[in-house]
Amino acid sequence: MKIYAVRILDISEEKVDKLCLLIDSDKKYKIKKFINKKDKIRTLIGEILIRTIIVEKLKIINKNIKFNKNQYGKPYLKDYLNFNFNISHSGEYVLCAVDNKPVGIDVEEVKHIDYEEIAKSFFTVKEFDYIVNQNFNFRLNSFYEIWTLKESYIKCCGQGLSIPLKSFSIEVDQYENIKVISNNKHKEYTSKIFDIDVGYKVAVCSLNKEIYNNIIRVDQNSLINKYSRFNLE
Ligand SMILES: CC(C)(COP(=O)(O)OP(=O)(O)OC[C@H]1O[C@@H](n2cnc3c(N)ncnc32)[C@H](O)[C@@H]1OP(=O)(O)O)[C@@H](O)C(=O)NCCC(=O)NCCS
Repeated sequence: MKIYAVRILDISEEKVDKLCLLIDSDKKYKIKKFINKKDKIRTLIGEILIRTIIVEKLKIINKNIKFNKNQYGKPYLKDYLNFNFNISHSGEYVLCAVDNKPVGIDVEEVKHIDYEEIAKSFFTVKEFDYIVNQNFNFRLNSFYEIWTLKESYIKCCGQGLSIPLKSFSIEVDQYENIKVISNNKHKEYTSKIFDIDVGYKVAVCSLNKEIYNNIIRVDQNSLINKYSRFNLE
């Protein structure tokens, strides 16, 4: 598995429009509809990132890249079912995980929210207890760990919130080993937490046994330049 991260920078509206010319019309429409400029940039950069990875890894030319979505909206690359990817964006970050088996990734910007209320409503009793049993200063952090782990599992399965959030439980032991438990059974998924930056949490979930530790940082300007060059070739 490879995990790529881009820290987003501002892009002019003209540049956004120009880069949108090179992507599918439904994504273009989605980007245009956003009112918030950061939403536009995050979605655009996610698209450019995965397209660049595909061009480089699979040697497909950009205009021949065809994405499809499953019934819950999870995108996949048509005709290349061994190529699995998942994108997540939050705050200043866009992340993409690529693997030969289904994968899910979630990044969240840590905000000072009423985590106890949210955990009580959406997490299992075990998950809630795990959070509130932490030293007070670590509770928000633990909440975001559980949140991103749950979300990355749901994204790996690709079924969105049709999987009820309380139907499975994330268990983190004292050695930071992570398990996804459903119906009292340990599911065959591997999960890992990454610290990418202060104020962010990242979790990855895969059907592979191993998730390596490193994240490949990609500079946004270099990415845009590379992507623009592909389209001239
Ligand atoms: C849509 C969903 C997959 C993720 O939403 P999210 O956390 O807001 O968004 P992220 O930035 O992590 O991921 C968005 C990307 O996931 C991908 N995606 C979309 N549907 C997906 C699905 N069913 N499964 C996996 N990935 C999906 C797309 O590439 C999307 O990128 P795009 O918006 O640029 O097209 C879905 O799980 C959801 O709506 N979650 C709600 C979040 C929530 O309430 N979580 C509770 C805490 S556990």
